[in-house]
Amino acid sequence: MPKPTALVTGASSGIGATYADRLAKRGHDLVLVARDEGRMEALAARLREETSAVVDIIRADLASEADIRVVEERLRQDPEIGILINNAGVSYGGSFEEQSADDLARLVSVNVTAVMRLAHAVAPRFAAGGDGAIVNIGSVVGLVPEFGQTVYGATKAFVQFLSQGMAHDLGPKGVYVQAVLPAATATEIWSRAGADPAKLPPLMDVGDLVDAALVGFDRREPVTIPPCTMSASGMRSRQPARR
Ligand SMILES: NC(=O)c1ccc[n+]([C@@H]2O[C@H](COP(=O)([O-])OP(=O)(O)OC[C@H]3O[C@@H](n4cnc5c(N)ncnc54)[C@H](OP(=O)(O)O)[C@@H]3O)[C@@H](O)[C@H]2O)c1
Repeated sequence: MPKPTALVTGASSGIGATYADRLAKRGHDLVLVARDEGRMEALAARLREETSAVVDIIRADLASEADIRVVEERLRQDPEIGILINNAGVSYGGSFEEQSADDLARLVSVNVTAVMRLAHAVAPRFAAGGDGAIVNIGSVVGLVPEFGQTVYGATKAFVQFLSQGMAHDLGPKGVYVQAVLPAATATEIWSRAGADPAKLPPLMDVGDLVDAALVGFDRREPVTIPPCTMSASGMRSRQPARR
């Protein structure tokens, strides 16, 4: 049986690029979505060389209505796509009152609106076929208001609730929905948010994170917290925790 194609958002770096790598190595073709076309082209070229995956690219800004529509349409129309990895996300530094209204609106557009719209676009086709998987990347920050990332955490609490609600609706129709809640992981999200490198918590290796998330995926867990999965299943890290 040919494996379904996976559409991965935020595939130009970090967790999304690592999902792309692991899924290509598992035999899935890919559709990569992000803004940085050059980085996606480089990743696609490597994966085509290392695997037999067919890798397509959609350059899209998921804060843009026009670009979201393009990705929605692909999810509705492409019958090969059987996995959606809803991973793209942003974080901004500063406290609630310091953050600009424009940045907060952008945060909600990418972390909430795009995640919901893309899942909503593909869900009817998956439900009609009685198959398919939707993976939404939340965060443990969504469980802990005391971390002080108020709007980012609220977007991630939304993603978790959305995922569990969708699992309730779509699970009986054969669609698997997984919420993945990473803890602090070594990706560019920290530097993009202007975090002080001296104040970073210990960071999980991004390869370990995605491998643990995929253990949860294979077990059809509704919610996976990768550091917990990793320690509970005896997985060994390939990398020491970083700051
Ligand atoms: N790293 C952590 O500690 C951590 C912890 C918990 C949850 N997460 C979540 O994990 C997910 C992936 O983040 P990461 O850690 O891998 O960070 P990252 O390396 O900064 O990756 C973020 C990805 O999202 C894409 N993206 C950002 N804004 C976008 C937009 N407007 N339109 C389209 N794509 C956009 C970026 O691509 P372009 O710039 O090319 O568009 C990039 O590929 C996020 O949802 C994040 O909230 C991360």
